[in-house]
Amino acid sequence: MASNKFGQNGWTPERLGNLSGKTYLITGANSGTGFEASKILLSKGAEVVMLNRNEQRSNKAIADLKAELGADINVSFIKMDLSELSSVQNAVEEIKKKVPKIEALICNAAIAQVPKQVLTPDGFESHIGVNHYGHFVLCGSLFDSLDKSQGRIVVVGSEGYKMGIKTIQFDDMNWDKNYNPMKTYCHSKLAQIMFAYELQDRISSANKNVGVYVCHPGSSATSLIKNSGGLRDRIIFGLMSKTPLVQTAEKGAYPEILCATENKENLNPKAYYGPTGRLQWTGPVGECNLESFAQDKDIAKKLWEVSEKETNHTWNLI
Ligand SMILES: NC(=O)c1ccc[n+]([C@@H]2O[C@H](COP(=O)([O-])OP(=O)(O)OC[C@H]3O[C@@H](n4cnc5c(N)ncnc54)[C@H](OP(=O)(O)O)[C@@H]3O)[C@@H](O)[C@H]2O)c1
Repeated sequence: MASNKFGQNGWTPERLGNLSGKTYLITGANSGTGFEASKILLSKGAEVVMLNRNEQRSNKAIADLKAELGADINVSFIKMDLSELSSVQNAVEEIKKKVPKIEALICNAAIAQVPKQVLTPDGFESHIGVNHYGHFVLCGSLFDSLDKSQGRIVVVGSEGYKMGIKTIQFDDMNWDKNYNPMKTYCHSKLAQIMFAYELQDRISSANKNVGVYVCHPGSSATSLIKNSGGLRDRIIFGLMSKTPLVQTAEKGAYPEILCATENKENLNPKAYYGPTGRLQWTGPVGECNLESFAQDKDIAKKLWEVSEKETNHTWNLI
C-alpha cells in the first residue's frame, strides 16, 4: 500500500475548513454513519438536508443534533423511501424546489442481510432495490442539478463487495433461486460501486461537470445489522462490536466526508477510500485496495443498461 496522502493518521475532520454556504444531501442520515457525517458537516457550518424514510426518527435525529450543536444549525429532512421509486421522484421534486445548489449528494443509506427474500413495492429484491436502484434513480434524477452546481456524488460502498459472488447475477437479479442474506447484500454493494465507476466514464464522455467518488466505512458500530439483519447476524455483529475489529460510527463517517469535501486536486476518482488498517475495517482513512472485478467494464456497462431498463429511468447524459 502506498503511503497515505493525508498523513500518518489518514484523513480526519481536522482538515475541514468553514463549510458555511455549502449544502450536502445525505441519504439515511438519521442514524449510523449518515448521522455522524451530518453532525460533522453541520459543526463546520454546512447545511445538511437529510433524505430519510421515517419522519419520527428524522425529527429525533434533528432534535439530537440541535441539542448538541445549537438550535441555529441548518438541518432539515425530506421524506424519501429508496424502496419506492415514486417516493424517490417525489423527494427529487422537493429537493429541486428547496436546494438551489448541491455541493454533494452522499448515497449513504442501506439495508443489509435481510434474512428472507423481500420484494420492494416496485418488485425488486430489497437489497438491490434500496441500495442500488433507489440511489441509481435518485442520482439520475438529480444529475442536471448536480451538473449545474458542479457538485459531487459520493457512493458509500462496503468491503462486502468482495464477500459475495464477485459479479452481478444478471440472470436472476432478484435472487429467486438462491437467496442468501449476506451474498445478496454484497451483490447490491458491488452494484453500487460498479455503478459509480461507470458513471465517471459516462460523465467524461458527455463532458459534464459532476465528480463521483467511492468510499466505504470499514466496520463501524451502527444499527445496520440490528435494523435489517437476522438474529444470528445481530448476535455476531453485536459481539464483534465489542472488539477492536469494529470502530465507532463517527470514524465510519470520515471516508464519506473526505469524498464530499476534500479538494478535487487531492482526490483520485478511481480510488476507493476507507480505513486502511487491518482488513481495511479500521485504521487511518485513505486509498484502499480495490479488487479488479469491481471495475470490470463489460459488467458495469451491462449493469447500467439493466438498471435503466428495470427502473425505467434513462439518464440524461449526452
Ligand atoms: N456499519 C458497517 O460496518 C458498514 C460496513 C460496510 C458498509 N456500510 C455501509 O454504510 C452505510 C451506512 O450504514 P450504517 O452502518 O450507518 O447503518 P444504519 O445506522 O442502519 O444506517 C442506515 C440508514 O439507511 C436508512 N435506510 C434504510 N432503508 C432505507 C430506505 N428504504 N429509504 C431510505 N433510507 C433507508 C436507514 O433508515 P431507518 O433508520 O429508517 O432504518 C438509516 O438511516 C450503508 O451504505 C452501509 O452499506 C456499513
